Amino acid sequence: MTLRLTWKRVLLGLATLLLGGMLVGWSGVINIGASGGHWAVTEWFLHWVMRNSVRTHALGIAAPPLDDPALLHRGAGHYATGCAPCHGAPGERQNPIVQASLPPPPDFGRALDAWTPEQLFRIVQHGVRYSGMPAWVEPGRHDEIWAMVAFLQALPRMEAERYRDLAFGAAAGRQPGSGVAGGESLAAPLQDMLADCARCHGVDGRGRENEAFPILAGQSEAYLHDTLRAFSEGRRRSGMMQPPAARADEAALRALAAHFAAQAPAVPATAAPSREAAPGLLAEGGRIAREGLPAEGVPACLSCHGAAALARNPAWPRLDGQHAAYLENQLRLWRQAAPRGGGPHGPVMETIGRRLPAEAARAVSAWFAARAPGSP
Ligand code: HEC
Ligand code: HEC
Ligand code: HEC
Repeated sequence: MTLRLTWKRVLLGLATLLLGGMLVGWSGVINIGASGGHWAVTEWFLHWVMRNSVRTHALGIAAPPLDDPALLHRGAGHYATGCAPCHGAPGERQNPIVQASLPPPPDFGRALDAWTPEQLFRIVQHGVRYSGMPAWVEPGRHDEIWAMVAFLQALPRMEAERYRDLAFGAAAGRQPGSGVAGGESLAAPLQDMLADCARCHGVDGRGRENEAFPILAGQSEAYLHDTLRAFSEGRRRSGMMQPPAARADEAALRALAAHFAAQAPAVPATAAPSREAAPGLLAEGGRIAREGLPAEGVPACLSCHGAAALARNPAWPRLDGQHAAYLENQLRLWRQAAPRGGGPHGPVMETIGRRLPAEAARAVSAWFAARAPGSP
């Protein structure tokens, strides 16, 4: 007997298959438990699809230079709370509960050499569907994701001691509830929170040994509070700062803002590299700060960020003595319309940032970084 293939029969066959599939799903016999693991063939297929997808989606990506040591500090600081709970870290075993998920998060002691930096960028930016691997909180913050990629590349060969220093600094080995030197004015739970901020910003708000993190010491208290709230509510966008800010309630944000505002402002010794910037660059920066760029519609920076203006508007940020790399990066985010956002006064700066050309941003950042806090 021969069966003639007609459109009607093909459609009927497909409909029967679909109905059969729905019936199997409805009956509940499919085991969605994680305990047994996948069949070898399912596991092979899922990984094959994942690798192909990452390879194809990474094609248009080009890695910037990743050799700045500040990238390692930033990547490690975020890794310790954002990734290590699932993936483990040098000197920290993976959590057995997490290892019982399916697929289990890979241990990075070995797994990473197979990926190019561009492919790691793609995985970290968008996560992996159906696997529990999360996307970056703010996928548009490419600068932050590249910092993580720089760290991931160094991770498989990293000693535990080096990792602890990068991720925890002076707070390495601290027990919860054990107090923080320099944070005694805060209640015990707040000291634990301060210890977390201090991994990146230092208890005194002066950051780490390089320009990895912005200086908070002596910053306007109102600005610190506004910007922390903006992070915690997602109005200022950063995959690295939104999580720690979201862990703190309103009272904690106020206390932390008060703590960092009360620290002695950093003298621009920490900004030494920018003080050595070419004199021409500094002169150009000073001119833009005082006069703006009338042709571009950019007002004088000091009309808002100078000492007299700050006395009138206590909620606006001080820039004197801040790291040049941080200032320049914030200006770049505005210029490239990358997600930055800000506090209630954020829109005031957004237009100015968008209009300021890259060279001018570099010059004026170097100039502010070299100034002593409170200069007229
Ligand atoms: C909730 C647990 C979880 C967290 C948190 C997590 N991951 Fe993952 N990650 C996974 C799982 C599960 C996989 C496996 C995905 C797969 O095999 O398809 C994975 C895979 C990866 C891979 C691919 C590795 C490989 O060889 O296949 C990279 C790279 C990665 N994660 C980086 C990170 C980074 C960086 C962070 C922190 C920003 C992070 N992960 C946070 C669960 C997590
Ligand atoms: C994992 C490292 C890390 C931790 C932990 C961390 N920060 Fe940050 N913080 C950063 C980075 C990186 C930035 C720069 C964000 C950006 O580029 O948008 C930043 C920015 C900030 C800013 C904005 C500074 C400015 O001039 O606008 C404030 C305020 C701040 N952090 C306060 C805190 C507080 C308070 C805590 C603890 C609750 C904390 N941070 C924990 C890394 C960290
Ligand atoms: C009209 C007032 C005004 C002028 C003029 C102005 N700014 Fe701002 N600027 C602000 C405000 C308000 C913020 C805070 C935005 C927020 O909420 O994050 C800010 C924030 C910044 C920041 C981010 C600071 C941080 O700690 O994250 C930088 C960098 C900056 N301004 C640079 C400049 C430069 C350079 C100029 C001159 C070209 C300039 N500003 C001119 C009002 C102004």
